[in-house]
Amino acid sequence: MKSSSLARKLLRWYDTNKRDLPWRGTRDPYAIWLSEVMLQQTTVKAVEPRWRRFLERWPTLRELAQAPVADVLHEWTGLGYYARARNMHRAAMLAGDALPRTYAELLKLPGLGEYTAAAVASIAHGERVPLVDANVERVLARVHTVAEEIRSAPAKKKLRALADALVPANRPGDFNQALMELGAMTCTPQKPMCRSCPITEECGAFQTATQEQFPRIKPKQKMKTVQEATIVIRDARGRVLLLFRGGAGSFANMWELPRVTVAGGESLSDAAVRAAQSLAGLQVTAGPELMCMKHTVMRSRIALHVMACARSRSAGNVCLSEHEEARWVTLVEWEKLPKSITQERVRRALATSALRDG
Ligand code: ADE
Repeated sequence: MKSSSLARKLLRWYDTNKRDLPWRGTRDPYAIWLSEVMLQQTTVKAVEPRWRRFLERWPTLRELAQAPVADVLHEWTGLGYYARARNMHRAAMLAGDALPRTYAELLKLPGLGEYTAAAVASIAHGERVPLVDANVERVLARVHTVAEEIRSAPAKKKLRALADALVPANRPGDFNQALMELGAMTCTPQKPMCRSCPITEECGAFQTATQEQFPRIKPKQKMKTVQEATIVIRDARGRVLLLFRGGAGSFANMWELPRVTVAGGESLSDAAVRAAQSLAGLQVTAGPELMCMKHTVMRSRIALHVMACARSRSAGNVCLSEHEEARWVTLVEWEKLPKSITQERVRRALATSALRDG
């Protein structure tokens, strides 16, 4: 297949079919950069008014750089993924009067990955660099009947090389946008509209009537739900018991409240008593559930039930089974110890309720 004929057809199609989006009427690199950053996790419809408003407030890179970061984050409200705004602000402060002009230089700024750097370099400055987003990946996986799983590293490498071979020296920015536009509007994930596609002659999947089989996507593994009980036991001075797990694994080298997975059919109180007994060798009576923290680890959705426990009068000293060390600590001392984000959320909630309860 001649890549130049594909590029020519695609550009012709783009010239008559492209959506009339406000950032397509500018060559200002700053405005183009802003549109591409906003579009990364947000729909075109939501981005349009917010792009205009942002540029009215900070029409130039220099004005953005001089704005307090808190104002930039506030302006970003509702768009989500605030790291994008924080990085834009940092990049604006580093860039000075103008963004660098080349892909290689753009890549050095915070928040500008391969995608954003290629978008600005090709659309604003006409540099011949490929631009690969999820829409482009799908189009190219169909055109070239890419057999590798679309999220795999070999597929990513192959798709990038294919995009690189296709992007023409003439109008590379429009070509890149045309591929994305074709993916967004015509070569859709389900029921692609091949009758209005300009490159069916070049498309391996169309030619073999296998459009629906590309891109190859391995179904995501199902998430499982896990209930855990974690216990707050206090000593006579009101300090809580923490355990330290050494070794390897997700929670290695961190401090945590004693914690077990609740068995099927087991009550939270029973699990709490078991946690104290099996992990710390302590006899306790389970009290009320203080809070429940939900979080996700790999493929597990975990509900962490935080249970108050009272030590039995006869309880002896801590005797560890799985952990390396135990400590009785105040909530303030706990803050300084290495721990998971979820344990920190528990600590903060306990500290807040301690304050509230006087
Ligand atoms: N998606 C993100 N940026 C785009 C652009 N400039 N054209 C088409 N689709 C896009």
